[in-house]
Amino acid sequence: MTLSAVEAAPKAELHIHLEGSLEPDMLLALAARNQVTIPYANADELRAAYDFADLQEFLELYWAGQSVLRTERDFYDLTHAYLARAHRDNVVHVEAHLLPQGHTPRGVPFGAVLDGALAAFDDARHAFGITGGIILGLNRHESQDEALAVLRSAQPWRDRILALGLEGPEKGNPPSKFTQVYDQARDWGWHLTAHAGEEGPPDYIVEALDVLKVERIDHGVRCEQSPALVRRLAEQGVPLTVCPLSNVMLKVFPALAQHNLRRLLQAGLCVTVNSDDPPYFGGYVNANYTQSAAALGLSAAEQRRLVRNGFVAAFIDDAQRRRCL
Ligand code: ADE
Ligand code: ZN
Repeated sequence: MTLSAVEAAPKAELHIHLEGSLEPDMLLALAARNQVTIPYANADELRAAYDFADLQEFLELYWAGQSVLRTERDFYDLTHAYLARAHRDNVVHVEAHLLPQGHTPRGVPFGAVLDGALAAFDDARHAFGITGGIILGLNRHESQDEALAVLRSAQPWRDRILALGLEGPEKGNPPSKFTQVYDQARDWGWHLTAHAGEEGPPDYIVEALDVLKVERIDHGVRCEQSPALVRRLAEQGVPLTVCPLSNVMLKVFPALAQHNLRRLLQAGLCVTVNSDDPPYFGGYVNANYTQSAAALGLSAAEQRRLVRNGFVAAFIDDAQRRRCL
């Protein structure tokens, strides 16, 4: 099979949740390995459940699925499988969200989550030449005190974590809830990002920028409701990590043909293309590129721009950026 130019191009993926890369087959295998009971007999039954009215409905199924992840080996296997799959899409740089709060309440040691994922990143650098690292995710529906406790637990891994992120149910959980945590992470020298403007209002994007002082926005597509914000994002070069297939599956847009990715690109924003939670939303990063290109009629130059933006937006130093651009 010949690959299109965008499929063959070396790419960065900046918005992928490692837990959201759990394929149905692996979910079932881990359930058996760890003797966790799940209400699905096979992968087809699981896939049939991947039909969501909104973000909340997805998150409930996603959290339930994560209950099979128990040991350091599980987190290694999960991360390794994603990185090997990303390599097949010619992804050369990955910044992946990982959410300890999804696991430690079930008795999984913090170190098992982090060490498993980090070891898989180390191995992928040698096996595939993939660079990148972990974005430590926080659950936005939990309190700031809980988030501060996550940061305290992360202290021994402080130098191995790339960035802080914020995820989970957006509406009613504004970025400003986490000011202190972001101040702390900034003091540690971490990069900063946050989900905003996926289901929530443009004001949450403004808060993430002005209060949390994030360097980029995960999703951000609802910025379009505020022309002044669109102008600001373009002028300041704030990257958006957009996930087109996710947005359709979670009803942010009714269909890919109605997605605003192309309009935002044409408005001068640094839009990037990513997969979010690929098995749940029907495709890894190449599928996000090719299906968006087909549905929106993206030109070859626009596709190249999207690929390039991935490296412009990445948390890498200038020397690595120059090598990638
Ligand atoms: N966690 C995993 N996927 C997410 C999404 N699309 N929005 C918010 N939190 C998430
Ligand atoms: Zn996400």
